Amino acid sequence: MTQTVDKPSKAINEAVGKPIDRVDGRLKVTGAAQYSAEIPVENPAYAVTIGSKIARGQITSIDTREAEKSPGVLGILTHLNLPKLHPMPTFTGNGSAAENRLPLQDETIHHSGQHIAVVIADTLERAKYAASLIGVDYTAETPLTEMEKERDRSFGKGYFGKPPEVIRGNPTEGLAKAEVRIEETYTTPTEHHNPMEPHATTAVWEGDRLTVYDATQFNFGVQQALASVLGIPAENVRVVCQFIGGAFGGKGMVWPHVPLAAIAARQVKRPVKLVLTREQMFTSVGHRAETEQQVILGATRDGHLTAIVHKGISHTSAFDDFVEPFTIATHIMYACPNLQAEQRLVRLNKGTPTFMRAPGETPGMYALESALDELAYAVKLDPIELRLRNHADTDPDTNLPWSSKSLKESYRLGAEKFGWSRRNPEPGSMRDGRYLIGMGMASATYPTLRMPAAAKARILQDGTALVQSASHEMGTGTATIMTQIAADALGIPVEKVRFELGDTKLPRAPVSGGSMTAASVGTAVKGATQAVRAKVLELVRTDTRSPLHNIPETDLATAEGRIFAKSDPGKGETYEAVLKRHNLQEVEESFNAQVSQEKKFSSHAFGAQFAEVRVDPDFGEVRVTRFTGAYGVGRVLNLKTARSQMIGGIVMGIGMALLEETITDTLTGRIINPNLAEYHVPVSADIPAIEAYFVEENDPHVNPIGAKGVGEIGITGVAAAVANAIYHATGKRIRDLPITPDKLL
Ligand code: MOS
Repeated sequence: MTQTVDKPSKAINEAVGKPIDRVDGRLKVTGAAQYSAEIPVENPAYAVTIGSKIARGQITSIDTREAEKSPGVLGILTHLNLPKLHPMPTFTGNGSAAENRLPLQDETIHHSGQHIAVVIADTLERAKYAASLIGVDYTAETPLTEMEKERDRSFGKGYFGKPPEVIRGNPTEGLAKAEVRIEETYTTPTEHHNPMEPHATTAVWEGDRLTVYDATQFNFGVQQALASVLGIPAENVRVVCQFIGGAFGGKGMVWPHVPLAAIAARQVKRPVKLVLTREQMFTSVGHRAETEQQVILGATRDGHLTAIVHKGISHTSAFDDFVEPFTIATHIMYACPNLQAEQRLVRLNKGTPTFMRAPGETPGMYALESALDELAYAVKLDPIELRLRNHADTDPDTNLPWSSKSLKESYRLGAEKFGWSRRNPEPGSMRDGRYLIGMGMASATYPTLRMPAAAKARILQDGTALVQSASHEMGTGTATIMTQIAADALGIPVEKVRFELGDTKLPRAPVSGGSMTAASVGTAVKGATQAVRAKVLELVRTDTRSPLHNIPETDLATAEGRIFAKSDPGKGETYEAVLKRHNLQEVEESFNAQVSQEKKFSSHAFGAQFAEVRVDPDFGEVRVTRFTGAYGVGRVLNLKTARSQMIGGIVMGIGMALLEETITDTLTGRIINPNLAEYHVPVSADIPAIEAYFVEENDPHVNPIGAKGVGEIGITGVAAAVANAIYHATGKRIRDLPITPDKLL
């Protein structure tokens, strides 16, 4: 039985689940929300960085004399005068820096746009003008820019503790047994996150203490990286980030401009603002790496998989080993005893790649789910039926039971809402006038992760609550769902809860990545608010002046800001009354939510995604005309923000399927479309009616919040669903993204 959770939750006072408006919505639409570049500071100076014009070689000379004399210039930093920096450990070394290599430490150039100088002036315009006066000479070498040309030099590299190659069962035997075999190569290009808000850092020193307002998904990571690189104690670094204008993983790690801003501010003894240009957002803060993936599926004639081989290459920089883990979902997606998964890296003269919304799953599911579609035609099965025949009833990677899984229900609900039964399976058979119509589907998945987090909660004498945790609001709705969780735990209305985040002065929260903020920070918020409630309940039970004196705790309930006896709801008093009588300004508790290492269950969110396309047979133009997704994501904490996450993931996936591609000039190694005019992200006219549904899924095992996270799963099946719909419309299988009109003619 399938139910959607469109209805508000039954319990009248329960805030969790309700589609309430964002608590920060008004601040955002009125422009009152302040982003990192806008934070008012006294007497700011402005820093700009200049980037290398070559992609590989050496700086032979850098002439700053003209620039130094330019009006308003306060300082210029190059590798010739920047102090030697201490190392910043990277993600792979348990640190938070995105790049292993420190900025401005030597004359070697590894990629176009690499920061080679910082100019600080009293206005932004003067800084930019002075930067234009700097003369740089290089000896250039031929850059490595084409992944396929360097394939022979690839090397195996694992990810997240996995070795480069994983073998399950006997894939060779499995392929030998296969009656049907699909063997294809799928390629995805370099893509850039392109959040609306550029990366920006405002750095302020007071003595030996540094405050940084930074556009980041990981304020404690910035603190750690800055303390490391500057060689100062972490407690001397405060990182503040109240609002983020989009991040998608690009702001998860610390990029070199952040320490450069801090060093610049120390150098000129003034607060410094450093904002990357849109062009620099293409060279200096990561991207999704290009992939070339081979998928081999062996199956019986009735569609049971006998082997899955998924292997290939992605690029990394000359100095870091960043893996785009495209095989990640293949390990768990389908029941198949025989698997070979292998990841290899190719070094290119490009910046270091990074996490981008569902890193690994997104390009990987494009390949795997396209191959499944090809297999469905080969064995003449409906694509959903093929997937049902290979449904993994337990986690094939760990053999653990799922904490919950609603993939079958998602196929059913998605198919019903989309109208999948109207699809004629024959490619090219559906038309609307001169247009070809196609319907395609794919599975979606993302693991449920959680990290330790802490929170502090206070109930104040006026009956309102203040809850704090140093998490981030990057547009996902974190502040809103934390408010809802706190309101329910305390039994007070959401309007009476204030949630503060985005500051390393607050209790520690993890990186806002991996779709784990709701589970991680939510558990801490629930723990802290429950502890406050328990403390107040204890206060009334033991107080002879309270109408609830001596009532057993099990008979006490809280709702609407009031504590009352369940057996006699008329008997009770408000939080306000309790705190006033005890002459308490506040009752405060903290909570540290630890994560057990013991794993009894495997937890993943699953979903089904359906695309309808209309293809112009003469011009190869593809329009996505409808898109429907259905998902099992555990408890939906806020139907409105959760649905928005799904819609956002689908929009980004449509961009990936049809539009987005970063193009590098093969001779110079320069990115030739580093702007929003030539790197095409979808605009409203590209986006159809999108529907997102949630299957009711009760997961008692996943985490104390019961929520699986919704930030990333929404993109994972989109490109395959669109590509599969295009095949259905045209009979043309495009195995190279984006699917631009030239590929269909
Ligand atoms: Mo996400 S790519 O884990 O910020």
